[in-house]
Amino acid sequence: MSGARKTYIKSFGCQMNVYDSHRMADTLAPEGFAETTTPADADLVILNTCHIREKAAEKVYSELGRIRLIKEQAAREGRRVMVAVAGCVAQAEGEEIIRRAPSVDLVVGPQSYHRLPDLIARAERGERAIDTEFPVEDKFDALAAPSRDATRKRGVSAFVTVQEGCDKFCTFCVVPYTRGAEISRPVGKIVAEAERLADAGVREITLIGQNVNAYHGEGPDSRAWTLGRLLHRIAEVPGVARLRYTTSHPGDMEPSLIAAHRDLPALMPYLHLPVQSGSDRILAAMNRRHTGADYLDAVARVRAAQPAIAFSSDFIVGFPGETEEDFDATLALVEEVGFAGAFSFKYSPRPGTPAAEMAEQVPEDVKSERLQRLQRLIDRQQAAFNARCVSRTFDVLFEKPGRYAGQIVGRSPYLQPVQVMADAALIGTIAPATITEVSANSLFGTLATPASMHQSVLVEAGA
Ligand code: 5AD
Ligand code: SF4
Repeated sequence: MSGARKTYIKSFGCQMNVYDSHRMADTLAPEGFAETTTPADADLVILNTCHIREKAAEKVYSELGRIRLIKEQAAREGRRVMVAVAGCVAQAEGEEIIRRAPSVDLVVGPQSYHRLPDLIARAERGERAIDTEFPVEDKFDALAAPSRDATRKRGVSAFVTVQEGCDKFCTFCVVPYTRGAEISRPVGKIVAEAERLADAGVREITLIGQNVNAYHGEGPDSRAWTLGRLLHRIAEVPGVARLRYTTSHPGDMEPSLIAAHRDLPALMPYLHLPVQSGSDRILAAMNRRHTGADYLDAVARVRAAQPAIAFSSDFIVGFPGETEEDFDATLALVEEVGFAGAFSFKYSPRPGTPAAEMAEQVPEDVKSERLQRLQRLIDRQQAAFNARCVSRTFDVLFEKPGRYAGQIVGRSPYLQPVQVMADAALIGTIAPATITEVSANSLFGTLATPASMHQSVLVEAGA
């Protein structure tokens, strides 16, 4: 073991990769690797990759091109730099990465991160190691927990993986293949992790999973607990002031979860609920197992439980066979719900998924044109939502220094960044701020005096 080694870890894709990257860093710390944010300083570079769309997957290879230059420069200086590809591209492409990218020393799939120290040792001996198994042992048990110091550096808001993998098999999606079958972590392990984070200063916990609301982990009573019940339990952890969960499937908005939105003040009134399309024909071809009406019903049930709720979503345009009429149904659904924001993507055929083989692939120019129209509508809704925040007072969880001297920035209940002129001592705490101005992506506010604290959340969230 040498204390002088450094690792640079870059995450692409979803929050689960962010979480996994942290756990890899925690597991490598006792091996003598300190984290660095400068790739040129690193002895070990890890790219934690995403396979969700072709563009995401291609980023890996362009990044590997840059890393190769660093590796060659280091070699000229007599220093060896190891390069690891982790994440969903590693899982999906394994051997092919080794073939395509000579600079890669090892490839590790998402289920094998606990084996990294061993893989690194093998790579050091000159082997180009690949591990893309779905091992029987529990990687969560084997991965090291973060030190108090590491948690503090990562800030006041943290992710905790509670569920991984997906059994839904939407026909466009690689996740069931890259992340495997759905598993839920036991309640006790999640609570212990939340307690550890809160003890180190974390105030907001986001429970994450590819299909988080299908959570059914074992509780201390040996029964399967729902996500609603788990949220109640985590809300009892001292120091945890805010809870969120992501990403959810509309078909799994079960009653205890909806009730949690009514009963748990710590559960933030902001829900990312992907719908993908507003057309029942396309939803069926996507194997989404819900209709547009089912989605609207889920939205209505959450709104009834928590009137202050705001929604965001994911959309795919140009799924095989999508007609103008199907696309109009998507626009109509967006109009009906009124989103605070949303992500929209052109359909990208993924190798091995059923939709990639479907006839009637939509031409690229049609996809681009539909994407633009959808994004314009969503941008308008987001701007309207933000504009309605002006003169409201929100609780803000302050996270770090702001853009300008004297400013600090935090998050509103709706995850909007809020810039406020205030003492840096407030970082890590929650304080009310009155919104005075909005820009495209940020809110600006002033610390609220108790007299102006008339309302802490928006009452009416729809557009
Ligand atoms: N093409 C385009 N977008 C996709 N997504 C998932 N698979 C694809 C694909 N093949 C989008 C979905 C999902 C989000 C994470 O990425 O909208 O909710
Ligand atoms: Fe990308 Fe999906 Fe893998 Fe996350 S789980 S990294 S979104 S492919």
